[in-house]
Formats: sequence, structure tokens, C-alpha cells
Amino acid sequence: MQHRRLGRSGLMVSELAYGNWITHASQVNDAAATACVHTALDAGITTFDTADVYAGTEAERVMGKALKGQRREGLEICTKVFWPVGPGRNDRGLSRKHIIEGCHASLRRLGVDYLDLYQAHRFDHHTPLEETLRAFDDLVRSGKVLYIGVSEWRSEELAAAVKIADDLGLDRIVSNQPQYSMLWRVIDAEVIPTSAEYGIGQMVWSPLAQGVLTGKYKPGQPHPADSRAVSPEGTHFVSRWLKDDLLEAVARLAPIAAEQNLTMGQLGLAWVLQNPAVSAAIIGASRPEQIAENVKAVGVELDSDVMSRIDAILADVIITDPARTKSPEDRP
Ligand SMILES: NC(=O)c1ccc[n+]([C@@H]2O[C@H](COP(=O)([O-])OP(=O)(O)OC[C@H]3O[C@@H](n4cnc5c(N)ncnc54)[C@H](OP(=O)(O)O)[C@@H]3O)[C@@H](O)[C@H]2O)c1
Repeated sequence: MQHRRLGRSGLMVSELAYGNWITHASQVNDAAATACVHTALDAGITTFDTADVYAGTEAERVMGKALKGQRREGLEICTKVFWPVGPGRNDRGLSRKHIIEGCHASLRRLGVDYLDLYQAHRFDHHTPLEETLRAFDDLVRSGKVLYIGVSEWRSEELAAAVKIADDLGLDRIVSNQPQYSMLWRVIDAEVIPTSAEYGIGQMVWSPLAQGVLTGKYKPGQPHPADSRAVSPEGTHFVSRWLKDDLLEAVARLAPIAAEQNLTMGQLGLAWVLQNPAVSAAIIGASRPEQIAENVKAVGVELDSDVMSRIDAILADVIITDPARTKSPEDRP
């Protein structure tokens, strides 16, 4: 495993992080979840990502249990707040009330005294940004949170947060967590340049487009058993990628992977890690073997000819529109 700095902060994160969306307490049982976490640890992954909302708050509990007994200083534990976790009007969003209560609840479920990174899961159009940033800053000052990040914020939202933090002397955000893969490149045009200006690192999600870039979904064929596409928890999320024209384009990457002595999944992850704006790629896994395979993408260098051929093969299916980064207008 190799490590990178999280933006301009002093925090080091593993180039591949492990996340438990859709899997823990949902698609897979606790034993499989623990096996995945232990395989990740054995492979040198030190950065773990979850969220209060995953599996109706249960994913944090499973992650905490699986990490129990590890040396706390050797881990970077990241979670998030924003999406609803209860029936109340204040069980959501980025108000001071919900951020402080949400942090306490996440700490309890994860079984830790502090979070390494606490992330605003989306931008909240219904809370003054000053209120949100002060609440995060209070958590940092009280030692419950070490670093603050966001997820899927637009370029202008990132810039506004940095300006307010600087004006008010508050802790700055150090990371953004956007979707990013060979297929979904909407951060290239605006989010990455703005982040570079302010020292914000990208911890990117779904680097394999939820498994689609492993090449296991074939055009015109039934989806593999035990895949996210057929799981009741995941099918809704991955279905956007399961179009024949897209799967045909992805299949055309197979010869490139083969000539590089990589699996298609390793090629997909190596592609993401070529980008220096990426601090970490957060991988998911439903079984330990997937992690063992995927970590071999670390340290792979793809030359410019390979990168250009990938672009040419995927040209018609790559999504680049920066407007696709957006948070709900109404509080969910
Ligand atoms: N901030 C946000 O809004 C947000 C949103 C989504 C995710 N995330 C974060 O990003 C993390 C990763 O997201 P993701 O799970 O979509 O990432 P991903 O790495 O693109 O997809 C992971 C899934 O692909 C399949 N897979 C992985 N490796 C494979 C292999 N070698 N062979 C065959 N199949 C393989 C597995 O699904 P199956 O085996 O079930 O098919 C696995 O669960 C999440 O856990 C979460 O921490 C954040």
C-alpha cells in the first residue's frame, strides 16, 4: 500500500480506502463484513469510510465492530452527516443541532472517541454555511473530530466554505468526496481546479462504477448472481450503468487490461490513482477476494498512450458535465 496526503493537511490516507455503503449490515452479513475489513487491513489499507445513513445507521456499528482491537492511531476513520437518520425535522441536514448530535451518535456506533475525518455528505441549502462550519470547528476544537471534509460539493460551494473559514478563523475543509471513475469525470472541469487552489484533496467514491468497470456485467447477458445488480439493496443504484452501449464500450477495455497484466478492475483503479488530485480511491467489496485483487492496482503506472486509448474507447459514454455535481435543493 502507498499513502498520500489528504489535500494540504498533514493527514496521510491509504491510496485505496475501504468503504461499506450497500454492503455492511445490508448486502453482506457481519462475518463477511469483518472478513473484508481484515483483508483490507492485511493489505495495508488504513483509511475506512462509512456514513451515519448507511444501512439505517447500522453500517457504522458493523465497521466499528470489525475494527475493534486495532491500534487506533494506525487507522483513519471517516464518516459523514447530512442524510436523514431519523423521523424528526432535525435528524438531517447540516444545522448545528444535527451536526453535534450526529457526531455523538456516530462516535457511539463506531465505538471510538474521535473521528479522523467528519464529512458533510452533501451541501445544505437550508442552513447558513457559517453555522455549519462553526459547528464542525467546535467539534475539532473539542477533539471529537480531527479534520473536516465534504462530499459532492460544487466548486463555488467549496470556495465559499474556504472564504468563510478564513474570514472567521475556523478550521478549513481538507477534503471532498466526489464520485470519480473512468466513466464519471464531472469533477475534472471545476471541482478539481478549485480544490487544487485551496488544498482540498479528493477521496473519490465508486472508482469502479460500482463494479461495472471490472467487466463482469456483459451486454445482453443476465447479471452475475451475487452481484450488486441483483441484490435488493444495490440494484437501484447500479442500474444507471447497466446499459448495453456502455457495457460494450467497457468490454473494449479488456485487451488494454490484458496487455498491462492487469484485471479490468485493477486497470480502472490504476486509472483513478494516476490523477494527483486524488488522495484516495474508496473501494467497496462484497467479498475479501475482491479487495485482495483490487489492491494490486496500487503503484501501477499507465503511460500516456494507454490513457489516450482508454479515452478513445470510452469517448461516447464518459460523463463530464460539471452541473451533474449537485445537492438536493430541498432538505431530504
Ligand atoms: N459520498 C457519497 O455520496 C458516496 C456515495 C457512494 C459511495 N461512497 C463511498 O464509496 C465507497 C465505495 O463505493 P462503491 O462500493 O460503489 O465502490 P466501487 O469500488 O466502485 O464498487 C464496489 C463493488 O464492486 C464490486 N466489485 C469490487 N471489486 C470487484 C472485483 N474485483 N470483481 C468483481 N466485482 C467487484 C462489488 O460489488 P458486488 O460484488 O456486490 O457486485 C463491490 O461491492 C462506499 O462504500 C462509500 O464509502 C460515497
